[in-house]
Amino acid sequence: MAEVWLDFTPTRPAGLMMAPMNRVWRVCAAIGVVAVAGVLCASPAAAQKGLETYYAMQQMGADLGVACAHCHVVGPDQRPDYKAEGNPKKGIARKMMEMTAEINTRVWLATGGAPGDKAVTCVSCHRGVPVPLPIATVVKRAVEREGAEGAVAAYRSLRKQFYERDVYDFSEAELLRIARLYTDREPDVAIGLTRMNLEWRPASAVSYVVMAYAYTRKFDDRSAIPLLEKALELEPENGAARGYLHQLRQFQKGQ
Ligand code: HEC
Ligand code: HEC
Repeated sequence: MAEVWLDFTPTRPAGLMMAPMNRVWRVCAAIGVVAVAGVLCASPAAAQKGLETYYAMQQMGADLGVACAHCHVVGPDQRPDYKAEGNPKKGIARKMMEMTAEINTRVWLATGGAPGDKAVTCVSCHRGVPVPLPIATVVKRAVEREGAEGAVAAYRSLRKQFYERDVYDFSEAELLRIARLYTDREPDVAIGLTRMNLEWRPASAVSYVVMAYAYTRKFDDRSAIPLLEKALELEPENGAARGYLHQLRQFQKGQ
């Protein structure tokens, strides 16, 4: 029995849209035997099931903003092996599928909704990204793994990839809230994050104030003072900057 391999080689989900499916149908119609996404469809029913799997998989990939290879093993020849279990993401995905089904049952029970209706799907949480965590948690993990530089790099990379997506809170308020979490414990993280923020928002007086505060936690008042001066230049009415600067100058005089 002939098996026609269809190439679902990982590309971005958007690239997987309709074109390959037209090809599937054409091939199916032409020879009546086809491998859809690795499932041999020798009969119309099997072909149908293969297509359903393919559509479900395509949807799942789109929900997470990933290609098939994110979860499936891809061999050295770039051929995906959809039955293989070697990729740990596949195991996570299976557990997530069970969890999502469980959540739906609870939603139906709570609201009297119709069983079978999809209330919650992967996209409800994932919204187009593979790891839908609060941005503060992403930064925390990066700090634990790789310190201040890692945190800045992780934030930058997320912002670059997902700025347009309504998943991570890239607002200045959230970024500064995170920076403040680190001013005492790990001032270099706060300094790195505020310096990065100033690249995008150079007139952010409050970033200068937070950075200055972080420097004082490193006993580096000499770096803090010009930062507070800069904050006041940007915002002459900034009371926090003024009071803090005054305090630091008094302290320096006293030494
Ligand atoms: C988010 C992770 C994830 C992505 C992305 C994903 N899959 Fe899957 N796939 C799974 C899981 C988990 C299973 C096993 C489901 C189960 O056990 O019921 C599976 C099963 C399959 C199967 C059935 C394999 C078998 O055992 O017969 C095929 C075929 C398949 N995927 C194809 C694809 C294709 C094609 C893509 C890209 C369009 C894709 N998958 C994207 C997680 C994923
Ligand atoms: C209730 C919210 C929620 C739903 C619904 C959900 N996920 Fe997740 N998923 C998460 C969170 C949160 C994480 C990140 C966990 C972590 O890294 O600590 C995650 C992580 C993952 C990962 C690991 C990603 C990586 O690259 O490390 C995979 C794969 C995944 N989810 C697949 C799915 C699939 C497939 C579905 C739908 C069947 C789904 N999830 C539905 C919340 C959800």
